[in-house]
Amino acid sequence: MGDELNRGLEGISVAETKLSYIDGEEGELVIGGFPLAELAGNASYEESVFLLLNDRLPTESELDEFRSDLAARREVTDEVRAVLRRAADEEKPPMDALRMGVATATLGADEHSNREAVKRVVAVHPAIVATYWRYRQGDEPVAPREDLGHAANYLYMLNGEVPTDAAVRGLETYLNTVIDHGLNASTFTARVVVSTESDVVSAATAAVGTLKGPLHGGAPGPVLDMLREVADSGAPREYVQEKLDAGERLMGFGHRVYRVRDPRAAVLSTAAESFYGESGDADFFDTVQEFEDVAVEMLADHKPGRRLETNVEFYTAALLHGVGIPKDLFTTTFAVARVGGWMAHCLEQLADNRIIRPRSQYVGEKGRTWTPVGER
Ligand code: ACO
Repeated sequence: MGDELNRGLEGISVAETKLSYIDGEEGELVIGGFPLAELAGNASYEESVFLLLNDRLPTESELDEFRSDLAARREVTDEVRAVLRRAADEEKPPMDALRMGVATATLGADEHSNREAVKRVVAVHPAIVATYWRYRQGDEPVAPREDLGHAANYLYMLNGEVPTDAAVRGLETYLNTVIDHGLNASTFTARVVVSTESDVVSAATAAVGTLKGPLHGGAPGPVLDMLREVADSGAPREYVQEKLDAGERLMGFGHRVYRVRDPRAAVLSTAAESFYGESGDADFFDTVQEFEDVAVEMLADHKPGRRLETNVEFYTAALLHGVGIPKDLFTTTFAVARVGGWMAHCLEQLADNRIIRPRSQYVGEKGRTWTPVGER
C-alpha cells in the first residue's frame, strides 16, 4: 500500500453502496435505484425509508405495517422530554438539542436490536425537534396523531395545526430529495461508528454532530436571509454585484461535486413552484426565480473558468420557508430527512462489515527524552 496523503479523503472510495449514486458532471442523482425526480415526486417519506432499508418498495400491507411501526415509536418518552425542556430552558441551539435528544432516544424505550432501534431513531427525529421548539417558544409539546404520516406529523407537532396537503407534499418532497447523498460527511461518520460494531443510536448521535457544522448542513438559513433582502429591495442585480465586489460568496451557488445545476435544486424548484402557486406567496417565488437567473448569469461572468450553478440549499430555503419551517430549524429539518439515509447506511455497513480504520502520516518528533515535572 502506498503512503500517499489524501487530505479529506477526496476521491477515495471506502464502501460499496446500493443507496445512492451521484454523477457530478452530468448532474445525475439516483436514490435506491430511482432517478431522484421519480422518487421525490411520488414517494411518501415512509416509502423512501423502507426502500433504503430493504432495497425495494414495500407492498401495501408492508407499508401499513411500517407506518404503524414508526407511529408506535414517534413520540418522545418522558425522559427525553425532560432533556429537551432543559435544552430549551438553557437556549441551547437546535442542533445541540437534537443531538441530546437522539443520544437519549432509547431512554425509557425498549429496542432489542439495531433493526428495531433504526425505526425509533427515524420515527422520533421530528418529535425531538418539535418538542424542543415548542418549549423554546414557551408552548407545551403537541403529541403526534396516529392518522397523520411522518411529514404531516412533523408540521403538526411544530405548529399544533393539521397542515395543508400542499405543505405536506412540499415537505415530503424535500425529505425524499435529501434523504441520501453518497458518502457525505455525516453519513461517513455514521458508517465509521457502526463499523466498530457499536450501535445505531451512537451512529445517529455522531452524525447529527457532523451535520451541525456550517460546512455541511448550515447554508439554507443564510440563503433565506438573502432572498428576503432581495425581495424587499427588488434589486437582485445590485445585490449580487455588491456581494461579488466585496469578495463574498453567494449562498446557494457552487458545489464541490456538481459542475451543473444540482439535480436536487431542479426537484425542489418544481416543488416550491407548485407550493407557492397553490397556497403561498407567488410574488416571493417570482423573486426567487428571477434571482437565480441573475445570479447564475453574473457568476458566469465573475468566474468564467468555473461553473457556479444553483445548489440544493437555494431552493431548500425557499421551500422550507414556504411550508412553514422556521429558519432556525432548517438544519434540524435536514437531519429529519437525512436520518433515513444514515440508518440505511448503518445496516448496509453492518451487513458486510470491515472496521473503517485509515492511517495518518506522522509528522511529529521521535526520540524525545523525559524531563521530570519540577525541571521543566
Ligand atoms: N459565490 C461566489 N464565488 C464562488 C462561489 C459562490 N457561491 N462558490 C465558489 N466560488 C468561487 C470561489 O471563490 C473560488 O474562486 P477563486 O478561485 O478565485 O478562489 C472558485 O469559485 C472555486 O471555489 P472553491 O472554493 O474551490 O469551490 P469548492 O468546490 O471548494 O466549494 C462550495 C464549493 C463550498 C459549495 C462553494 O461553492 C460555496 O462556498 N458556495 C456558497 C455556500 C453554499 O451555498 N453552500 C452550500 C453547498 S451545498 C451543500 O453542501 C449541501
